[in-house]
Amino acid sequence: MNGSNRPDAQPTVWIVGAGPGAPDLLTLRAMRLIEQAEVLVWTDSLVNPQIAALAPAGCERIRTSTLTLEEVMAMVVERALAGRRVVRLHDGDPCLYGALAEQICRLADAGLAVEVVPGLSAYQAAASALQQELTIPGLVQTIVLGRAGGRTGVPESESLARLAALRASLCLYLSARHVEEVQAELLRHYPPDTPVAIGYRVSWPDQWLQVVPLTAMAEVSRERALIRTTLYVVSPALAASREARSRLYSASHNHLFRGGV
Ligand SMILES: C[S@@+](CC[C@H](N)C(=O)[O-])C[C@H]1O[C@@H](n2cnc3c(N)ncnc32)[C@H](O)[C@@H]1O
Repeated sequence: MNGSNRPDAQPTVWIVGAGPGAPDLLTLRAMRLIEQAEVLVWTDSLVNPQIAALAPAGCERIRTSTLTLEEVMAMVVERALAGRRVVRLHDGDPCLYGALAEQICRLADAGLAVEVVPGLSAYQAAASALQQELTIPGLVQTIVLGRAGGRTGVPESESLARLAALRASLCLYLSARHVEEVQAELLRHYPPDTPVAIGYRVSWPDQWLQVVPLTAMAEVSRERALIRTTLYVVSPALAASREARSRLYSASHNHLFRGGV
């Protein structure tokens, strides 16, 4: 971190991950940057207002939910070039569905340096709330972070059918609006009783999180009117016995730091 927009340094914009919602799931680096912000540009549709409230009293706060990317970038660029410390705050981790590439390109075009600060993503908050490992030895060793097509679409090579064919721990973002099609496609690949965790606003005070069989995924989502801020975790790991012991901790397994039996 260069820590300041010194006149001799290239002005910097910080793109910061706010984590899934709970303020105490922020990284220390994210918290310090928010506390020092002169301008906070935040995704008010997804970031907890308590996190935006950590910015100092004199900080200019810009909500982005009603703005286009062009409008947001114009405000960020103008303020950063004027020497103000601009923090662009995204929900979760900025590298996931955060339009990070487009923003970095535009900031670079304007002669601004960028620092990106990671945040905990929604799937990590959901797994922790469930007290659930998503990689159970002998059962599932891969986590897929994906989405249903929707308006943005996904490349054909990443269609839901292809992702589901792996039968991995599948974490689906931005997919609640398409839950009927998602369930139908998943049922072509996973057994019908595969557990699906449905998480709404995980780590927020009004978190709702439930594990249902795959066959009930759409019905339960519709009953709860879930459209936004909903994550699905589809995984055979959610049914695995908690008694299952990873080979890593088994007494019969040698590794670098422990001689085995
Ligand atoms: C634009 S994407 C951004 C994802 C974010 N960058 C991340 O790493 O979590 C927004 C989607 O993430 C998921 N999401 C983000 N925060 C969530 C939370 N606290 N609980 C459940 N889903 C969440 C939802 O699928 C939501 O529609």
